Amino acid sequence: MKWLVLLELVAFSECIVNIPLTRVKIMRKTRSEKNMLNNFLKEHAYSLYQTSSPGSNIATHPLRNIEDMVYVGNITIGTPPQEFQVVFDTASSDLWVPSLFCTSPTCSSHAIFRHNESSTYRHTNKTFSIIYGSGTMEGVVGRDTVRIGDLVSTDQPFGLSMEQSGFEGMPLDGILGLNYPNLSFTGGIPIFDNLKNQGAISEPVFAFYLSKSKPEGSVVMFGGVDKSYYQGVLNWVPLIQAGDWRVHMNRISMEGQTVACYGGCEALVDTGASAILGPRKLVDKIMRFLGAKRRGFEHYVSCSLVNTLPSIDFTINGINYPLPAQAYAIKDSSGDCFINFEANPGSTSAETWVLGDVFLRQYFSVYDRGNDRIGLAQAV
Ligand SMILES: *[C@@H]1O[C@H](CO)[C@@H](O)[C@H](O)[C@H]1NC(C)=O
Ligand SMILES: *[C@@H]1O[C@H](CO)[C@@H](O)[C@H](O)[C@H]1NC(C)=O
Ligand SMILES: *[C@@H]1O[C@H](CO)[C@@H](O)[C@H](O)[C@H]1NC(C)=O
Ligand SMILES: *[C@@H]1O[C@H](CO)[C@@H](O)[C@H](O)[C@H]1NC(C)=O
Repeated sequence: MKWLVLLELVAFSECIVNIPLTRVKIMRKTRSEKNMLNNFLKEHAYSLYQTSSPGSNIATHPLRNIEDMVYVGNITIGTPPQEFQVVFDTASSDLWVPSLFCTSPTCSSHAIFRHNESSTYRHTNKTFSIIYGSGTMEGVVGRDTVRIGDLVSTDQPFGLSMEQSGFEGMPLDGILGLNYPNLSFTGGIPIFDNLKNQGAISEPVFAFYLSKSKPEGSVVMFGGVDKSYYQGVLNWVPLIQAGDWRVHMNRISMEGQTVACYGGCEALVDTGASAILGPRKLVDKIMRFLGAKRRGFEHYVSCSLVNTLPSIDFTINGINYPLPAQAYAIKDSSGDCFINFEANPGSTSAETWVLGDVFLRQYFSVYDRGNDRIGLAQAV
């Protein structure tokens, strides 16, 4: 028994591939200054939380207003390699990038995959579409060599976008989904599954560290867990069901009083969402509790009050994960502080909360495909 544990530790510390992530700003100015909320949502919204199952080959992601940061990292596709900046997203399962087939104006402001310039490219006739809250993405499936740092997945199925809206002005070219294959809309084996199956990684595990203060320093690591990115113990939480990075949450409380998730609810751990999302009524309730005022879709408090606000405590698997006010209240260009909580427009029967980057900057997260569980620890 003991040597097994030891072996695991050795494997975990070896052969980890670290991919640096850069935190990039999304211009929030456009929204408040022009007060064109609908346009803003359409053009800049960014949240990849999936609300429908992939049976029909269609995913619905609510496109909501966002806070002001996303984390992107580089991958390459093709031979010779062509580089793309993607969001590594735990809520979806497909990789897609803009392509030569793309007829939307937005594609011209992003890196475009030139399939005719890759000797390893193979075309398929399979099309797919992903519908977002106020935009769509349509594409065709191709296969090529995809590289994430030193990790190589040959003949990897991925999407080449033919039409896309909702990514205008976004500092990212495409999305790399790290969720289970169940949720794939391109229908191919997701890249992490291929790396796992091909034995390219020592452990079927990846992990995220999102830097709190600096634009650089964030990282997604594959094949193991680098302990220097967290402190204390790593708490493991079993998934509700193998097939989605979703866990059971016991309650959400403030100053010891339960304010949401009475009797338990579901939490999706989502690196592709920037905020915390929950049912509108419950988000509104928490905002009232904080004394935050609604302005458009957002809730604000005076920044001078932030130090007096309580933490919002998420209890998962019996362990409390407090989110201090300094983490959920963010100063914007108006000088006020907005609360980084959003109403989730997706309609699911179970009460579901999305724990996005605002939560993940506080808590280092590990995604263990071998044991179908998520690990959380205090980020350094
Ligand atoms: C991604 O590549 C671009 C261009 O080569 C580079 O400027 C940027 O620093 C890279 N980003 C990361 C996170 O490595
Ligand atoms: C690939 O196709 C694009 C668009 O048609 C064209 O501009 C480019 O020159 C082509 N590249 C090669 C190597 O033929
Ligand atoms: C795609 O469809 C065309 C015509 O419909 C067919 O000729 C071609 O063989 C198909 N290619 C693949 C890879 O299925
Ligand atoms: C995902 O697929 C696995 C088998 O590969 C299955 O056991 C599981 O129930 C599926 N999960 C969901 C959420 O569909």
